[in-house]
Amino acid sequence: MASIKRIGIITSGGDCGGLNAVIKGVSREAYALGIETVVIPNGYAGLYNLVDLDEVVFLNAERVSRIEASLAGSEAGHSRVKISKIADPKKYERIKEGLKKFKIDALIISGGDDTGSVVIDLSQHGIPCVHVPKTMDLDLQSYSVGGDSAVNRISIFTRDLKTTGLSHNRIVVIEVFGRYSGHTAFRGGVGAEADCILIPEIPVDFDIVYKHMKTTYIGRVERSDVKAGTYIIVVAEGMKNASGEMLYDESAGVDAFGHKKLTGAGKYVRQQLEKRLKKDPAIKEFMKKTGMYAPGVYETPEVREVVLGHLVRCGDSSAFDVNFGYKAGSAAVFLLLEGQTASTVVNVDGRKIYYQPTVEVIKRREVNVSEIALFESIGTCFGRKPEKYQYKVEEYKGAVLRHL
Ligand code: F6P
Repeated sequence: MASIKRIGIITSGGDCGGLNAVIKGVSREAYALGIETVVIPNGYAGLYNLVDLDEVVFLNAERVSRIEASLAGSEAGHSRVKISKIADPKKYERIKEGLKKFKIDALIISGGDDTGSVVIDLSQHGIPCVHVPKTMDLDLQSYSVGGDSAVNRISIFTRDLKTTGLSHNRIVVIEVFGRYSGHTAFRGGVGAEADCILIPEIPVDFDIVYKHMKTTYIGRVERSDVKAGTYIIVVAEGMKNASGEMLYDESAGVDAFGHKKLTGAGKYVRQQLEKRLKKDPAIKEFMKKTGMYAPGVYETPEVREVVLGHLVRCGDSSAFDVNFGYKAGSAAVFLLLEGQTASTVVNVDGRKIYYQPTVEVIKRREVNVSEIALFESIGTCFGRKPEKYQYKVEEYKGAVLRHL
């Protein structure tokens, strides 16, 4: 068993739900084992600058009790800094000096794929670190704290937007975070019974979206006794068009990890639908038939886009994420004591703490497109010609990796 007297905790990448539970899980488990925990503030930027700090915050029982696990965000703060990219040839020495100054023996680091790659990098430079998976994008191989909270929030906001959509008979396009994977748009959209869900894994044919929208929306308004209807589209920020191009606003620039900031997919979807609504003679007829037509001012239904942005990862953490965060944070302490480094906690099931090499966990996981057809068969549009759900029935014999 490794001799560890003090652990430094770092949260890195984008903040999200469940992180405060990770912090509390680490510090309370460590405390129970007679190990101290300190905060290294503001992600890897803070690690790089640790040596210049006069003091660090100790997560003793009193300080920890002031952290609310059910609130999203992180008491430890965040930055999007990759150590290897810092323009300082002595950066690893500087980091080691900081750790020595505050007698920090090992690190527990919570973050996504970029953060995980730094966990590997630091381990290779002789700094023991264990990784707790975190990302609202759900694009790691394991479950990551923050995913469930984000999916729930997307569902709630999407459902809420239906009331205003319905009052104005508008088509509402809701753009959500998720980077290059569509997990949050998919699961959040299904959770709110969105009519159409557009994800990066399926290049979008806008003629198909338009046709689905027109039939569904017109049908709804015409059937309604008060002539009310809406149509809800949830679009992932990393959506691609039929030619496979991502449709983001180039002027948004890049973040400190060097990734393009993705925004603009919602606007693109709106423009595609508006263009088709204006050209379609059946729309004028529909507007007249349903008593909505006002010449020169209101000739086609309105399409509005709402960019949820950071709203999907702030506020409350789901109970699931608090559970997972507590378990994974505690388990990370045991992994460190077992001498693991560059390892990720992937689950805790009873007495078993499961881990995997971080290098495996950070490989990008995309939406399993073969499941999409199941949702297409029950009416949701995914921007392609619906496919028949091809299923196989078989008894499950493996060990079930449950999240709770
Ligand atoms: O990786 C998490 C995430 O929320 C992505 O879904 C999104 O693209 C990105 O972070 C936004 O990050 P920032 O807050 O740095 O703009």
